[in-house]
Amino acid sequence: MKLPQVNNDLYRTMGHSWWDDNVGQFSAIRFFVNPARFSFFLRVLERERISGHATRTVLDVGCGGGILAEEFARAGFHVTGVDPAPESIKTAREHAAASGLDIAYETGSGERLPFAEASFDHVACCDVLEHVDDVAGVIGEIARVLKPGGLFLYDTINRTFLSKLVVIKVMQEWPSTSFVEPNLHIWERFITPPELCRLIEHHGLDQRELRGSRPGAIPSPTCWTCGGGRRARYPSRSWGEGSHCMKAATSAFPTWGTRRRRERSWADAMHTRRQTGRRCPASA
Ligand SMILES: C[S@@+](CC[C@H](N)C(=O)[O-])C[C@H]1O[C@@H](n2cnc3c(N)ncnc32)[C@H](O)[C@@H]1O
Repeated sequence: MKLPQVNNDLYRTMGHSWWDDNVGQFSAIRFFVNPARFSFFLRVLERERISGHATRTVLDVGCGGGILAEEFARAGFHVTGVDPAPESIKTAREHAAASGLDIAYETGSGERLPFAEASFDHVACCDVLEHVDDVAGVIGEIARVLKPGGLFLYDTINRTFLSKLVVIKVMQEWPSTSFVEPNLHIWERFITPPELCRLIEHHGLDQRELRGSRPGAIPSPTCWTCGGGRRARYPSRSWGEGSHCMKAATSAFPTWGTRRRRERSWADAMHTRRQTGRRCPASA
């Protein structure tokens, strides 16, 4: 069955509005999604830090207006952002300059990253995988530009009943509640943790940790790890994912509003390590 095309035009036509508090689809990322996923990433990065390591480089794939890229820059990373929408890149550049942040932005797609092999210590790709046609191609490119031992930090939306209800019906389709453009999200293109994990491992990244989150939940540090002899688990009915992966070492997902009850979470986070023999969680 041919799936409808994701409407990514928004990132061109509304590319100037990334930092506008009144544009719901962007301010939701800035105020609700980003703080939770970034704090998770920072904890993971701190934990994985090798003492004495020089300042690290981060590539933000599908950076949009730079919401996540700026957080990494403020935390002391050398950041590069890439996005196919020139209008979003223009906004990201202008906002970084106005904020006194030195971030390199380039126009380009995740399927053809304009960087050499093993260029970055870490790669982030947040709320992007559900927007691309070729998820495997993007993961392959991320694995290519990531240095051995580097972390791949990502989040995406899980394909669950909850994500259909909240992201598709409430946010996008029902006239009385919707606030995002039609077809910005296509439910069938959402990715489950086992599907993503298979792609990640296929490209030489190892899953480390999986976290789930959902809207409006009380944050709680629920986390399922692959390490320490414990089998990785993920919320089978969660609506999104957050994770980090390491090339030849680790990988992970971010989260917000995670709850302990697996069946109620809506997003997941995970990280993986190569050369440990650990495998993805089995399908639910
Ligand atoms: C929901 S926004 C997320 C932006 C940013 N990562 C964040 O979380 O603030 C999705 C972004 O993915 C970008 N995008 C769409 N297709 C892409 C592709 N093939 N490769 C890389 N980025 C893509 C869009 O231009 C848009 O900026």
